Amino acid sequence: MKVLVIGGGGREHALCWALKRSGRVSEVVCAPGNGGIASVARCVPVDLGNVDAMVRLVDQEQPGLTVVGPELPLSVGLVDALEARGLAVFGPTRGAAMLETSKAFAKEFMQRHRIPTAGYAVCRTREEVDVALARMGGRVVVKADGLAAGKGVVLCEMADEAREASAAMLEGSMAGVPAGQIVIEEFLEGPEVSFFALCDGRRAVTLGVAQDHKRIGEGDTGPNTGGMGAYSTDALVSKEMREWLLEHVAQKTVDGMRAEETPFRGVLFCGIMMTAAGPKVLEFNTRFGDPETQALMMRLESDLLDLFEWAVAGTGKELSVRMKGGASVCVIAASAGYPGAVELGWQITGATTFCDWGGTAELFHSGTAVRKGQLVTAGGRVLGMTAVAPDLKEALGKAYSSLAEVSFPGMQFRRDIGWRASGEVTAG
Ligand code: AMP
Ligand code: GLY
Repeated sequence: MKVLVIGGGGREHALCWALKRSGRVSEVVCAPGNGGIASVARCVPVDLGNVDAMVRLVDQEQPGLTVVGPELPLSVGLVDALEARGLAVFGPTRGAAMLETSKAFAKEFMQRHRIPTAGYAVCRTREEVDVALARMGGRVVVKADGLAAGKGVVLCEMADEAREASAAMLEGSMAGVPAGQIVIEEFLEGPEVSFFALCDGRRAVTLGVAQDHKRIGEGDTGPNTGGMGAYSTDALVSKEMREWLLEHVAQKTVDGMRAEETPFRGVLFCGIMMTAAGPKVLEFNTRFGDPETQALMMRLESDLLDLFEWAVAGTGKELSVRMKGGASVCVIAASAGYPGAVELGWQITGATTFCDWGGTAELFHSGTAVRKGQLVTAGGRVLGMTAVAPDLKEALGKAYSSLAEVSFPGMQFRRDIGWRASGEVTAG
């Protein structure tokens, strides 16, 4: 089967790489892809915000299956358009993707279906903000309703800060955050874990657990990014907790979405805070995470095409997902200045050595391009060195020693990915 993957980051590189290993995949096409994806898939340009252009591409390519990576094409209704033509597509419809694209929708959905989450208020005016703050106290989290690439969440210690952030979001004066309603949430504390479930509209099955590192700086300091590194190991939470999250969060969500006639097919990425009062959902994403996917794909033993086909078929049958034990880790190398403005086009050296099929280290490209035969930087996040090993320390050692062979001017990366779980700061 020919498979088309929509997207062009590290997540899509890892998905293309895993699909390429499937015995049943004859060709992988990736749109738009990137300089590294080109080594495992044929890359074709496309505008990820333009449904008509993406549908035209599917008409031209005639894949047996289209897999949608990022949130933007989901939010503009690519899946609806392809399903309306009777085509096989992996990902949620625009209505089902509202679990990610509207935080107000997600909170109200969780309340309707008794899925544990932080107390909240949806506010449309400053007056509503004042009422909510008077009820919840000063220590709150203010969130923009819509997609904001990680920029729409402000943790506030004081009511004044919350008022200021709320006003800026309501009137649209916060950089990168669209104006509109907001959610004010109770401030939760505890370790975070990302729980990934594969869903077919009726049933949810566990794909795996991972932990992201969202801040740019070591020790979780500085501004938020798309994710500077992630690791995956079953040991992140107990087996009982994984089962609890599957039943009380993922399956309940799938049941609720089905009851509301917006069945959820695709990956449900549940951001969970392990609070003293039990696990609570911080957010849903309706797609694979980036860089969590790079780490998860290194552990995947099942044929990825089988998993996608199960989700698209929507039979509700049982599915077993086989993952390697041990641990995997992805360390992101980013451009100087990221997550702010960056300069692109710097030459990358040492990067090709790591397309080491079936090996224990793989270099997934997030933002690279080939210019005049040279691999160059083409994004804020550039590369993700990913390794798998029997334990986290070994996986970290392998990822960092492999990353040491790669460089580009201004390359920055966190040296403490996985530090909490491995009990010490790694690589120097
Ligand atoms: P979100 O995009 O909603 O996951 O928020 C981004 C990050 O903000 C999360 O990964 C948490 O670290 C933090 N966060 C979100 N909601 C809360 C909350 N209610 N309490 C404390 N921290 C939060
Ligand atoms: N790594 C977080 C995300 O993909 O949203």
